[in-house]
Amino acid sequence: MTLLQKLEGGMTCATAKSLVDLGEAFGYLLKDGDIVALRGDLGVGKTTFTKGIAKALGIADSVTSPTFNIMIQYIGMINLMHIDAYRLDDCECLEVWDYVQRPCVIVIEWPERLVELQKNITHDLRITIRKNEKRWIILKMLNKKIL
Ligand SMILES: Nc1ncnc2c1ncn2[C@@H]1O[C@H](COP(=O)(O)OP(=O)(O)OP(=O)(O)O)[C@@H](O)[C@H]1O
Ligand SMILES: [Mg+2]
Repeated sequence: MTLLQKLEGGMTCATAKSLVDLGEAFGYLLKDGDIVALRGDLGVGKTTFTKGIAKALGIADSVTSPTFNIMIQYIGMINLMHIDAYRLDDCECLEVWDYVQRPCVIVIEWPERLVELQKNITHDLRITIRKNEKRWIILKMLNKKIL
């Protein structure tokens, strides 16, 4: 079974470190143009998972929560555009494509608040908290490739 197949069935992460490691393993499977949606409540681990993705893309900077900046681009072998749409107003548009430097993967926290990228999401992940702070993460592959 591949990692994507396992994630489609749902996986458990007992610690923040294991969520970073899973993000890294997942990140190696990403390619230019992929758009990853990360859904789940405040503090569930979306940014933690993104730290792992950044590691896989060859990004040396440490990824922090972009809540106050909304969107931050990190330069790596593949660049990472990290968006946290939590504070966006309805229908606000970021014109993300004007800012991305290819090759680039886009990761969006709170994707339901950013209409412009929704139809192009390639990987849709949801994280939930289970007993004893364990995280459950499940993937829906959308297989829609942009550009
Ligand atoms: N099993 C676990 N997996 C992941 N994170 C965990 C786990 N147990 C505890 N944590 C903690 O939960 C927090 C997750 O924070 P993180 O910033 O990643 O959440 P977030 O989903 O990005 O929140 P926000 O919506 O506010 O951006 C971290 O402080 C992390 O240490
Ligand atoms: Mg976050």
